[in-house]
Amino acid sequence: MNSITIQPAASVRGDIVVPGDKSISHRSIMLGAIATGVTTVRGFLRGEDNMSTMHAFRAMGVDIADDGETIQITGMGLHGLKEPGDVLDCGNSGTTIRLITGLLSGQSFFSVVTGDQYLRKRPMKRVVEPLSLMGARIAGRNNGTLAPLAINGGSLKGISYRSPVSSAQIKSSIMLAGLYADGETNVTEPSLSRDHSERMFRHFGASVETNGRGVTVRGGVELTAQEVTVPGDISSAAFFIVAALITPNSELLIKNVGVNPTRTGVIDILQAMGGDIQLVDPREVSGEPVADILVRSSRLKGTNISGSVVPRAIDEFPVICVAAARAEGVTTIRDARELRVKETDRITAMAVNLKRLGITVTETEDGMDIAGSEQLLGAAVDSCGDHRIAMSMSIAALVASSAITVADIGCVATSFPTFFPLLEKVALK
Ligand code: S3P
Repeated sequence: MNSITIQPAASVRGDIVVPGDKSISHRSIMLGAIATGVTTVRGFLRGEDNMSTMHAFRAMGVDIADDGETIQITGMGLHGLKEPGDVLDCGNSGTTIRLITGLLSGQSFFSVVTGDQYLRKRPMKRVVEPLSLMGARIAGRNNGTLAPLAINGGSLKGISYRSPVSSAQIKSSIMLAGLYADGETNVTEPSLSRDHSERMFRHFGASVETNGRGVTVRGGVELTAQEVTVPGDISSAAFFIVAALITPNSELLIKNVGVNPTRTGVIDILQAMGGDIQLVDPREVSGEPVADILVRSSRLKGTNISGSVVPRAIDEFPVICVAAARAEGVTTIRDARELRVKETDRITAMAVNLKRLGITVTETEDGMDIAGSEQLLGAAVDSCGDHRIAMSMSIAALVASSAITVADIGCVATSFPTFFPLLEKVALK
C-alpha cells in the first residue's frame, strides 16, 4: 500500500489551476451518450471515477474519443444504447453507480452494475426504491439494497418523489429515469443539493422546471449534443484554499473554479471562520458560474455548522475539519449524518485521524465537535481508502510540528490524480 510523508511548510504561494469538476464531468458523458449528435467536452476530469463512467458507456456501444485535450462523444439518442456484454464496474464511484442505475432503469435491456469493496458497502436503497416506484425491476444483495444490482428497465411512469435526504445522486438518478418515463417526474429534497443535472439537462434541451427544492422533468424529449466546458472542481480547490488559510505567509490564486451556489458552502463556512477568501472575475461558462479564488493566510475561529449549508459543502467536511483543528475555539458540525455513508465513514475517519494529531474531537451521531489548537502533532494516519481523507490529512501536515505520514494514498487518483505534484509546487519549505 502506497504512503506519503509530508513535511511542514513555511508558506503556500503561487497561481494554480485545479482539474475539472468531477460531478459535471460524469454528467457530460451521460447526457452526451444519450443525446443526438456529437458532444465536445473540454476540461474533462480524467480521474478514475470519471473513467469508470466513460468505460460503462463505451460498454453500451457509445463511441467516446479522447485526444488528450477534448472528449468527443457520439450520442446514440435516447433509445440507442446497447445491452452491455458484461457487468458494468463503477469502481469507487457513487455518482457513476447511482446515476447510471437511473439511466439503465429506462432501457429495455438487462444490465448489472457493481463496484469496489467500498462502493459495495454503500446504500443503494435510496435509488432502488424510487426507481422501483417508477416501474424498474431491480434486484441486488441484501434485499436489493447493496451492489451488485441487476436491472430490468423500460416502461417507466413518472412519479412525484419526496427524497428523505438532500442528495444530488438520488435526485439525478430519478431525473435520468424521468427522461424515459411517461409524463412528468418530480423530485423534492429537504434542502437543495448540487444542481449540475438541472443545469446540464437544460443545456442539452431537456424539459426541466425547477421550483425551490423541487425539480420536474418531462419524459420522451430528445436531447441535442452540446459543447461543454468543465470548470475546475471546487471540491479539489478546497484543499488548497484551506492550505493557504492555515499556513502562515500564504497567498494563493486558484484560477477557473466552478462557484455554483449549490457548491460554495465551503467558502461560506471558511469566511464565517474568518478566512480571507475573495472571488475574482466572476463569469458564466456552459451554464455554470466560474471565478478565480484568491486566498490569504488567516487567523481562523471556531464556528457552528448545520442546516442547509451542509449539502452545499458535503464533500468538503474532511478539509473543513482540518481548518477547525487549527481554529481558535470549538467548531460544531451537525445535520451531517450523510458523512457516515461516503467513501468511508468520514466522521469517524476524521475524528480518529485528528486525535492522532493531538486534537480533541467528540463524535456525535450526525457530526462532531472539534476543539482547535495552535499545535498539531506529527503522526502516522490512514486514509481508510478515501481520497478526501488522504488529501485532508496531507493538508494538515503543512502546519504540524513534524512530518505526517499518510497511508493508503492510491485512492487520491479517483478524483485528483495531480494532487501531490500540485501540493509540492505551492507548499514552500
Ligand atoms: C455527487 C453528489 C454528492 C457528492 C458526490 C458527488 C454528484 O453525493 O458527495 O461526491 O455528483 O451528484 P450525494 O448525492 O450522495 O450527497
